[in-house]
Amino acid sequence: MKRLPGTLRVGGGQALAGEVRAPGDKSISHRVLLLGALGEGRTTAEGLSDGEDVAHTLEAVAALGAAVVRDGGRVTVDGGRARLHPPDRPIDCGNSGTGMRLLAGLVAGLAGETVLTGDESLSVRPMDRIAEPLGAMGATVSGSGARCLPPLTVKGGRLSGITWTPPVASAQVKSAVLLAGLSATGDTVVHEPVRTRAHTEELLAAAGADVSVRDDGDGRVVRLRPSTLRPLHVVVPGDPSQAAFWVVAACLVPGSEVTVRTVYAGAERLGFVGVLRRMGAPVTVASSPGPEPSREPGSGAGSAGPVADIAARHAPLRPTVVLAGEIPSLDEVPVLAVAAAAAVGATRFVGMAELRVKESDRLAAVAALVGAVGARAEVDGDDLVVHGAGRLRHASVDSGGDHRIAMAAAVAALAAGPGQSRIGGFGCVATSYPGFVDHLAALGGRAWTPVVAIDGPAGSGKSTVSRALARRLGLERLDTGAMYRAVAWAALDRGVDPADTDGVAAIARAAAIEPGPGPVRIDGVDVTTAIRSPEVSRTVSAVAANPAVRAALVERQRAWRAGHGGGVVEGRDIGTVVFPDADVKVYLTASPEERARRRSDEAADSVARRDRIDSTRAASPLARADDARLLDTTGRSVDSVVEEISSWL
Ligand code: DC
Repeated sequence: MKRLPGTLRVGGGQALAGEVRAPGDKSISHRVLLLGALGEGRTTAEGLSDGEDVAHTLEAVAALGAAVVRDGGRVTVDGGRARLHPPDRPIDCGNSGTGMRLLAGLVAGLAGETVLTGDESLSVRPMDRIAEPLGAMGATVSGSGARCLPPLTVKGGRLSGITWTPPVASAQVKSAVLLAGLSATGDTVVHEPVRTRAHTEELLAAAGADVSVRDDGDGRVVRLRPSTLRPLHVVVPGDPSQAAFWVVAACLVPGSEVTVRTVYAGAERLGFVGVLRRMGAPVTVASSPGPEPSREPGSGAGSAGPVADIAARHAPLRPTVVLAGEIPSLDEVPVLAVAAAAAVGATRFVGMAELRVKESDRLAAVAALVGAVGARAEVDGDDLVVHGAGRLRHASVDSGGDHRIAMAAAVAALAAGPGQSRIGGFGCVATSYPGFVDHLAALGGRAWTPVVAIDGPAGSGKSTVSRALARRLGLERLDTGAMYRAVAWAALDRGVDPADTDGVAAIARAAAIEPGPGPVRIDGVDVTTAIRSPEVSRTVSAVAANPAVRAALVERQRAWRAGHGGGVVEGRDIGTVVFPDADVKVYLTASPEERARRRSDEAADSVARRDRIDSTRAASPLARADDARLLDTTGRSVDSVVEEISSWL
């Protein structure tokens, strides 16, 4: 699974151009896996979402007894009713409300007890909306409190069909009820007052279920008879909710012209296109032959619904009124709010109460994002009103763990003109769109993981501060001192005289050094503890003064950045030599007494001697970069130092 940095910087002022293929639709991917588990035989799917949410559902169906094999976007599921049983361990749904609600419907039809858990954010999302109908069908769904919060315990078994009208528009509730209805006696009818995404009905029909759909005013009535399912063979189309980020970005960034290919084009998912058109954006939807299935013999894959290419160009936007029914899942509200912030005037999003119980209190989070990027937002009852300022400004924002807030913030940054924004809590984008940053770059946008350079003498607090800072920012950490120490250890271990500059340099060039996180290794030997010995501490300054050693290690440090994108890097020359372009440079100091106290494992004269050699050597002596911020850590808490450095980003 691709890891995304916890902190991302995004630059603006660059037109976006070209095309990307949206990642496999998340909603369809969940459903293909669940219906695959129920289908009698081998389901095959291509183009599955590569996000963590779907990975959790994949593990869930395996835990239930289906045999699942995944190879990138291709997956086979050997399913069938007789294979499925409640697992003996809780199923972890991660961050995914869809995963949990749909799974609850499926396991309601299995005799026995299944426990469904999730992460912190999922654990505060209401499950009463599925507990009620599933209870009416004969299952027992319990969680904590009146709103039935996860973990959920589902006691399944004999179910009977019901007629259900969900009080809030929800494809998840509809789908949970229909999945349970597959194994109920009698018909199950869901009457939805507003049309929500139709993937479950579409895929049930493709799997041979006895399902019928009838329009009823603004809504729809779905009727299902208990059915045995055939395996599915599908190519999952692109995710319109993810495509929306690039479509809005193209509308907002001057000079842009972007096409997102092979996007699922069912009407309930493209409401955002209508909204953008009303705002004056030239967005076109051209039906597409769909994603190409592979030529594997017997694949016989068909697309899981209508597919289109969506193209968008930059245009000045005007405000509009957005009704909840236009985009029933409300998934596109964060990015449409960014579009509204860039228009001049007030855009009202009507009926947004459901946003309060998404991956975050998304209503508050959207309002905060709009405010941060230079417009004004106000929550008026259940409405969100965005007073657009006509232009966006760069900002430092935090996603609060909500992937759509993080991606909407990135779009705002692309549109904010020259300069750069910082997005904290960006890592959660991996739940739905691990390729987001790659696609941003493919369209010509600039986004990067920041480098924070932490330099300073021994005992100034570099290690403690950089460790805590890396944790706080969700970034990797590189301790370059450990690399010099590992070379010093190897020289001592191999009987190479530290004064033998060529001999030590040969080690620095040839040895395999793993600087962590985790154990520090040189040529496979774990030296995590050994490199902190007094002997190594005495030797390392001479090793670090060797220009050939420095050249070899600096090259490796730059390669580390090329591999990781960025991170918190500590050492003596990071801001001056290794990464003179670091996003933030910090030079830590502390009083001599405090430094000696912190280095109580090393004799005070040894620390002083090491400082003297480090500061007076010819090759890259310890020095504060002109643009490094001086930070005296004497008597300060780690938290306060970390907060201060974070604020400089
Ligand atoms: O940070 P530390 O004490 O573990 O570093 C060990 C030695 O390595 C220290 O004497 C200075 C040297 N060093 C260096 O010269 N350049 C770096 N980037 C990191 C450490």
